[in-house]
Amino acid sequence: PSLEKDFLPLYYGWFLSKKSSENLRKTGQAFLDELGSLKVFKKESKYFLPAEDPKVKLDLSGYFAKRPPSVLHCTTKFTDFGKALGADEYAQQEVVKASYGKAFNLTISALFLTTKTAGARVELSEQELLLWPGDVDKILPTDNLPKGSRAHITLGCASGIEPVQTGIDLLEFVKLEKAGTKGDEIEEIGGGKLQYFGNGMWMLLLSKKIEVKAIFSGYYG
Ligand code: 2AM
Repeated sequence: PSLEKDFLPLYYGWFLSKKSSENLRKTGQAFLDELGSLKVFKKESKYFLPAEDPKVKLDLSGYFAKRPPSVLHCTTKFTDFGKALGADEYAQQEVVKASYGKAFNLTISALFLTTKTAGARVELSEQELLLWPGDVDKILPTDNLPKGSRAHITLGCASGIEPVQTGIDLLEFVKLEKAGTKGDEIEEIGGGKLQYFGNGMWMLLLSKKIEVKAIFSGYYG
């Protein structure tokens, strides 16, 4: 029994370096600006506009105004100061303890947005997957998706939406992909191939994946 067990963080995750964080915010911002100006997007922008006033000009960065306050992060396990299911088991793993405070390179393969959230999809390496919890890659208990499917970095949330939603939204994309709904390939834009899955669900597959530097640690609030 150690004193440390009384101090589980709110969540564990990879915290981007200040520079990587600033760069990724800019990339996300550029994506929102470009998407918002595209004809194909405007045609489908009803999902993002108030029904009572569909003619107002859509400003996507204003729409996703709830942005993470400090450096961007990729949550591995939400431990809720030890109250979350599986929190202790996660924290006690040797790999978690040994990786704490260590630097990693995260690979970002896509940017996505829905009517609720905007985020970056993270492709985890074998080594990084060792830090990924076994119970988070599902929305329904019956979902069977590859480990790490949920890995993401929240870039912004719409008003009234909590950040936990970003991972759920990414899982929706992955479920659609798995069901063979590939998403209409709309066009090549600045950063890559833009896909539309309907219902205001957009994903940009980056032609050049982004590498960010991040440190594995806990966030205490
Ligand atoms: P996210 O942006 O990676 O989704 C603090 O609330 C952080 O913990 C949020 O940034 C959110 O991370 C994550 N989070 C909150 N509630 C969660 C939950 N129930 N499950 C997983 N992650 C959660």
